[in-house]
Amino acid sequence: GKPVNDSLKPILWIVGTWEATAGKGSFPTINPFTYCERIQFSSFGQPFLNYSSHSWHPEKKVAMHMETGYLRIKPGTDQVAFMVAHNFGLTSLEEGNISGNQVSLKSTQISRMSWAKEPEVTKLERTWSLNDDGTLEQVVFMETKTSSLCEHLRIKYKKID
Ligand code: HEM
Repeated sequence: GKPVNDSLKPILWIVGTWEATAGKGSFPTINPFTYCERIQFSSFGQPFLNYSSHSWHPEKKVAMHMETGYLRIKPGTDQVAFMVAHNFGLTSLEEGNISGNQVSLKSTQISRMSWAKEPEVTKLERTWSLNDDGTLEQVVFMETKTSSLCEHLRIKYKKID
């Protein structure tokens, strides 16, 4: 396969393509929903992983949320930074660490284009965990101008590549 930078050793378990067919979306202000998503963490040998995600509606199959960015590791540490652009007009810089089979991130900066949809997102917190059965689980909490920090996404992916 592709070369992988030594500094990525603590997080090699996340490299690959993952797909989920029953993600759960929720938030106090919206109707709960189900979504499908494929995410990929790949390496070109540099000390970070290239990341992309796209989601789609389970029945209508139409594209929904998308993200693209980089998961950087501070070489020689378990510190990570995630820089990501979201298709709906927002970018987030999230920082955290790797602890065993889990990555935890909290936003340090969120930028938005002036006409991005309301309400403004003011905080993001997410974890990726590798479960014992080999599935990858993501949980995302968000805070907005109008709601306190609450779960928005919970999804379990199977490795497909
Ligand atoms: C609603 C942000 C990921 C689907 C929302 C809202 C915000 C938001 C701010 C409006 C909440 C309100 O009205 O109070 C985000 C952020 C994400 C994310 C920051 C990533 C970190 C996703 C993903 C999906 C999704 C992966 C999957 C398809 C929806 C849906 C709604 C919604 C269906 C309700 C309808 C709508 O407002 O469009 N999201 N979202 N979101 N989100 Fe997300």
